[in-house]
Amino acid sequence: MAESSVDRRLLRLEELRQKSLEAGGARRIARQHEKGKMTARERVEFLFDPGSFEEIDRFVTHQCQDFGMAENKVPGDGVITGRGLIDGRPVFVFSQDFTVHGGSLSGAYARKICKIMDLAMKTGTPVVGLNDSGGARIQEGVESLGGYADIFLRNTLASGVVPQISAIMGPCAGGAVYSPAITDFILMVENSSYMYVTGPDVVKTVTNETVNHENLGGPWVHNEKSGVGHFVMPNDRAALAQIRELLSFMPSNNVEDAPSKATDDPSDRLCEDLDTIVPKDVKKPYDMAEVVKTVIDDGHFVEVHAHYAKNIMVGFARLGGRSVGIIANQPKFLSGTLDIDASLKAARFVRFCDCFNIPLVTFVDVPGFLPGTVQEFGGIIKHGAKLLYAYCEATVPKLTVITRKAYGGAYDVMSSKHIRGDVNYAWPCAEIAVMGAPGAVEIIYRNEIKAADDPVATKDEFVKNYEERFSNPFEAAARGYIDDIFEPRFTRQRLCHALTFLESKRDKNPPKKHGNIPL
Ligand code: HXC
Repeated sequence: MAESSVDRRLLRLEELRQKSLEAGGARRIARQHEKGKMTARERVEFLFDPGSFEEIDRFVTHQCQDFGMAENKVPGDGVITGRGLIDGRPVFVFSQDFTVHGGSLSGAYARKICKIMDLAMKTGTPVVGLNDSGGARIQEGVESLGGYADIFLRNTLASGVVPQISAIMGPCAGGAVYSPAITDFILMVENSSYMYVTGPDVVKTVTNETVNHENLGGPWVHNEKSGVGHFVMPNDRAALAQIRELLSFMPSNNVEDAPSKATDDPSDRLCEDLDTIVPKDVKKPYDMAEVVKTVIDDGHFVEVHAHYAKNIMVGFARLGGRSVGIIANQPKFLSGTLDIDASLKAARFVRFCDCFNIPLVTFVDVPGFLPGTVQEFGGIIKHGAKLLYAYCEATVPKLTVITRKAYGGAYDVMSSKHIRGDVNYAWPCAEIAVMGAPGAVEIIYRNEIKAADDPVATKDEFVKNYEERFSNPFEAAARGYIDDIFEPRFTRQRLCHALTFLESKRDKNPPKKHGNIPL
């Protein structure tokens, strides 16, 4: 008798397991594949080291009795949650299953996500969210809204404690967008993903604009225009591989250091090519990406926000095997000026690195903040202040190399000595000054130039003198604002060395509940 009851349970267990694997059924799975998308389960298997995924809550079902839902239950209820290994390190995941009620979020489904987030917090483990959902489970109403809020709260509390990465692999609409928005990085997949607060139909009704999903909230919109997305990936597999790559630069939580990666690239390698990379004419651009790639281990740079605010580059690299966050003005775009978008992009990245003990390496070639009414009306003052605040607040090792211009307030902002830069280096061609020489002489010698017989020649003479006197790194070095000046070829070895001695750096900010970053 007892044995038959056990047998029945085993059969039931097998049946439930099978049902959870079948998810929304063969027809809906085929539809998912037709759209070029992997299923939620395929994504999880691909994300983790082979065979390492352990599912949690595969038997959870929703509790809704209305709209015929009592007879419409799938074990797991449209989200796969659990824990697996990435490069041998534990990571929690939730993977929304569009084949079950369109991946829509029920109360039970939200509780599954909250459960793994709570475990992630207790164990100091990163969380990856794979988003593919029609939003709130319409049949559940307010219970679904409450479920979202429960997740938002956990996203917020986990921010700065464990890394959180979101991939958008299908729809992500309405308030649902705010969970990924609070996480550290958002990857979007081409041809299948979109994010917006209100969809094309509502937009048409309210503003009379005609726009489709792609043009309203597709991956390129968010990676080029809004800055909401950090990466555009061509397909699901590439997105999942990129998540693995990103995590390799990060510690599992805020009390650990990022893992090192052995390299054959010698720390004392000379970078001779850099000696001639900066053009003699200060108005001519060069590619800062070349500088970065030449200096870092194996030229391997994982650029974040590559398509947004190209006048500044941010991303992950390694120096002597150690993970670093790179921030670099890019003279190829807008002469490398700091504008609103560049300030926001870099501030967010600096703060991420500081949360997770990743040293900051800043390459500076900045002629200042971008002038104009668009910038002023848009609030460049408060947005530029965010970048300043982020650098000031950061207590991780901060290494700075001024390659050419460091003018005005932007000199202060870009990890200068005054805001706790630990090592501040300059190349001999650096110009550390309040502004460029022509602008400076027009102000201080206005009367003399006006009164001169040959104003042009007089101005040229003043410019030459000013350049000689101030457009160099020596004035700053004489005051200890620059620790050393060296030829570009030595940049890699000096940075690798500095990073080694800064490994034991400890610094902290005054105790407070939290600061009030100028939002
Ligand atoms: C319940 C849903 C659903 C939802 C889709 N489905 N969205 N079920 N709640 N929100 C179901 C469909 O009934 C269908 O079931 C299956 O999922 C697939 O949907 P399709 O429409 O056939 O798929 P597709 O043509 O690809 O269109 C996808 C879609 C569309 C654009 C996402 O489904 C859609 O517009 N859904 C509604 C979106 C929405 O308004 N959500 C609420 C937003 S407000 P069957 O059984 O036929 O397979 C919100 C607030 C969050 O989310 C607030 C947080 C604070």
